[in-house]
Amino acid sequence: SDPDPLQDFCVADLNATISGNGFPCKPRSQITSADFFYDGFTKEGNTSNIFGASVNPANVLAFPALNTLGISMNRVDFAPGGMNPPHSHPRASESGVVIQGKLLVGFVTTDSVYYSKVLTAGQMFVIPRGLVHFQRNVGEGKALAYTAFNSQLPGAVILSTTAFASSPPIPNEVLTQAFQIEDEVVNSIRSKFGA
Ligand code: GLV
Ligand code: MN
Repeated sequence: SDPDPLQDFCVADLNATISGNGFPCKPRSQITSADFFYDGFTKEGNTSNIFGASVNPANVLAFPALNTLGISMNRVDFAPGGMNPPHSHPRASESGVVIQGKLLVGFVTTDSVYYSKVLTAGQMFVIPRGLVHFQRNVGEGKALAYTAFNSQLPGAVILSTTAFASSPPIPNEVLTQAFQIEDEVVNSIRSKFGA
């Protein structure tokens, strides 16, 4: 869903001092083969965190050759029981394929209908743009998936950290009212995210 490019490529100059919708192009004279290949997916991600999962984004910031091309990918690793928590991508639809393990993949529509399925190696899923979704490892061992986006920088709004770990924080009275919970519940959730 990004705008169409007006040239073959425009490898991002991430250090440019001007900002805009995307990045300016690195001078053509400085472009080599190395710009168009990316090694960041070769290693397993570190899943030692509260969610037991690791999302490694190959977006324009990591792989500048994606600039203006409207695509990007993630490598997502899951420890047993690990989860990529409920989140949405404001600028992209997502498709994904399970490479290893057994993943429960679910999303919720804007009218609160939940769709889900348990997928194993080779099976694919799609998450329509902007909808809240998650993946959870429901197998015995590790799991691995690759996801793909129709944006060079899809963005991710993670529900739990957006609500409870913003900086500065959303006032407690907003969260107690929104989620119909007590003040101490808000504080307890905040503390789990180190907020
Ligand atoms: C999975 O949902 C991802 O955003 O990579
Ligand atoms: Mn996603």
